[in-house]
Amino acid sequence: MKIAVDGPSASGKSTVAKLLSQRLGIPYLETGLLYRMFGYIAFKEKVKPEESLKLFEEDFRVVFDVGKTEVYWKGKNLAEELKGEEVGKYASLLGEIPAFRERMIEFFRRLVGDSQVVAEGRDVGTHIFPEAPLKFFITASAEERARRRYLELKSKGLEVSYEEILRVIQERDLRDAHRPVYPFKPAEDAHIIDTTNMSVEEVLETMLKILKEKKV
Ligand code: DC
Repeated sequence: MKIAVDGPSASGKSTVAKLLSQRLGIPYLETGLLYRMFGYIAFKEKVKPEESLKLFEEDFRVVFDVGKTEVYWKGKNLAEELKGEEVGKYASLLGEIPAFRERMIEFFRRLVGDSQVVAEGRDVGTHIFPEAPLKFFITASAEERARRRYLELKSKGLEVSYEEILRVIQERDLRDAHRPVYPFKPAEDAHIIDTTNMSVEEVLETMLKILKEKKV
């Protein structure tokens, strides 16, 4: 079975999608990680937006399994390099290029094939696997998402400002929602879960309950 988990940045969708994958024993595919990887490579190699399709010729590899997605570039695991807000911005810019996005959608479909997957991102339910029998859209208020990101970065010892994080989140939301092609929005048949006042456990339980009721 394919399960789509979409949502805006810092909504907690990665956390719950990964847990759902582990709970069900189904591989986890974090599509944003691929956007981040290509954004990072484009920055490093000074690839212009109009040449973005060339990024697919790079020496990269994707591993997706229960509870984890990893990307390698020239044999190196990029886990650390891809974490920051800056890389997220490059990723989002790539996502605005229609030809690049189409290539990504095709790439993800081929990568997963007939396999089961909990796939997480922005357009999984709308474009990558529109046929998925179960779709979730995980969201929370911008203020709550900024608060979560602030606490996360702070716990890693980083000096960060809540106002600045909120500004970046709002800016990214606007860009993702208003791009002319493939604007970011929930699939019509997605179960929308507003996690603003929910714990991670509550979100996961809600998802499992919906899964059980659907009997997919
Ligand atoms: O999920 P994330 O924050 O790691 O994603 C980073 C950026 O990549 C996000 O701002 C938009 C883009 N992205 C996308 O356009 N489509 C996806 N399926 C996943 C990510």
